Amino acid sequence: MNTLHRHRLFRLGTLTALALLAVAGLVRAQEEDAAAQKARLKKLDDGPKKIDVSTYPKDMQAGYALLAGKCVKCHTLARPINSRFVLPDEWQRYIKRMVFKPDSKMTEDEGKTIYRFLVYDSSVRKADSLRTRLGRLSHEESESAIAKIKAINPAFEFAGK
Ligand code: HEC
Repeated sequence: MNTLHRHRLFRLGTLTALALLAVAGLVRAQEEDAAAQKARLKKLDDGPKKIDVSTYPKDMQAGYALLAGKCVKCHTLARPINSRFVLPDEWQRYIKRMVFKPDSKMTEDEGKTIYRFLVYDSSVRKADSLRTRLGRLSHEESESAIAKIKAINPAFEFAGK
């Protein structure tokens, strides 16, 4: 084997090793993501398992009953209750995903009722976190979010930035 050939082989070996390292790194990053997600979900699941809705309007109490019946098929009620989601768009996106899962057995109307409850509940029980999140949005985004919240809870107030 001449020197040039050996040199090429060496380079090929180095490249292969680098590629393998990169793949291993990616796999590890994904495993970490999965582990972090699992830990995050476990924390949600370990939190409080019910909401005291006795002071909520009647239609919101009905929304809670629907949530408690529909959103417990794959995880407990603790997960939505302790979720960090507070913005209307976060709830909308998530519920849409659930409604379209074939095994969720949820109609679009039921999804809407649950959405209204979760937006209302976020504006009452998680109002501090909701205001913090609104404060981080662009002016346009926060205006749009506030309109969606007020359509469901007219009493919600946000002083702005
Ligand atoms: C068909 C099974 C299923 C049903 C029904 C279901 N979920 Fe989930 N949910 C999951 C799975 C699986 C996850 C884990 C991560 C993911 O897929 O988003 C999850 C995660 C969540 C999370 C945490 C998301 C995050 O990343 O923090 C929330 C909040 C949530 N669900 C709310 C709800 C609500 C509200 C309903 C009822 C409208 C519902 N779920 C119904 C399967 C379900």
